[in-house]
Amino acid sequence: MNISGVTSNIFNPNLKGKTVVITGAGGGIGRAVALAYGQQETRLGITDKNKDSVSQTFEMLKSLGINDVLWFEGDVTCKADAEQLMGTVAEKLGDGSIEVVNNIAGITADAPFHKMTEEQWRRVLDVNLAGTFVTTQAAMPFMREVAKNEQRIGLPKLRSIINVSSVSSKGNAGQANYAASKAAVEGFTRAIATELAPFNIKVNAVAPGFVDTQMTQVIPEKAMGTIREIHKKKTLCGKFGQPDDIARVVLFLGSDLSGFMTGQVLVADGGLTTGVL
Ligand SMILES: NC(=O)c1ccc[n+]([C@@H]2O[C@H](COP(=O)([O-])OP(=O)(O)OC[C@H]3O[C@@H](n4cnc5c(N)ncnc54)[C@H](O)[C@@H]3O)[C@@H](O)[C@H]2O)c1
Repeated sequence: MNISGVTSNIFNPNLKGKTVVITGAGGGIGRAVALAYGQQETRLGITDKNKDSVSQTFEMLKSLGINDVLWFEGDVTCKADAEQLMGTVAEKLGDGSIEVVNNIAGITADAPFHKMTEEQWRRVLDVNLAGTFVTTQAAMPFMREVAKNEQRIGLPKLRSIINVSSVSSKGNAGQANYAASKAAVEGFTRAIATELAPFNIKVNAVAPGFVDTQMTQVIPEKAMGTIREIHKKKTLCGKFGQPDDIARVVLFLGSDLSGFMTGQVLVADGGLTTGVL
């Protein structure tokens, strides 16, 4: 601290040595998030339903000399998978503790509302919303319970949970299921932020705009033309977001730099949803 009470290095994310879990780490944004945390010398537990892609992320981390990493094949909606993930990461990497959980896994199953099947509705709600609930709850013994002991001995630590919403939560045609799931993730974020604040656990979300990943690469070319035009007119540099653009925001929310923020949703969309009135 200096004499004005401001920490001398206010830009220190203070992530070194922290134990970090990332779901969806085989996907576009999840992989960028894993690489961003890895470069901060964290200890990483990375997981994805897609075994090949998460093991590729692991190899990429290793090739950068990032070695404190465990990878898992797991489904975020499966309680047993989530408990095994959190238990193993806490035991093998974290001395019984987890400091940051990043809920990145997610899916779309777009269709006009009048044609959307109940299966599409339930599948998207299950992965995006229930998956975030199941995975976050499995981390509680290694976050909330550990925090109680730290507070008892007068050494409280700051922990962080980051969820992923979307600008589609405002309502996007063809995405009734996805929009509902992401709006609900925002409500979930605010609710548990209030419950976990007494344990020094901040809970925030990022709401990305259109990001160039496999999720958006499946959009039909005709629709892509319209999306490109809108981006040219409205966004910074007239372009789509890249996974790194979102990873930087996630890293900020996972770090001590956002140490006085909880229950918030940060929009990262290059201006896409700004100025609609
Ligand atoms: N790409 C975008 O434009 C965009 C915009 C807003 C929000 N998001 C959100 O960002 C997150 C990451 O998306 P992305 O763009 O990287 O997509 P992506 O498809 O590249 O990655 C998603 C990853 O989640 C994994 N996954 C899916 N279901 C799973 C399950 N049940 N259990 C475990 N893993 C599972 C997939 O295997 C995949 O690797 C998602 O939550 C998505 O909704 C993306």
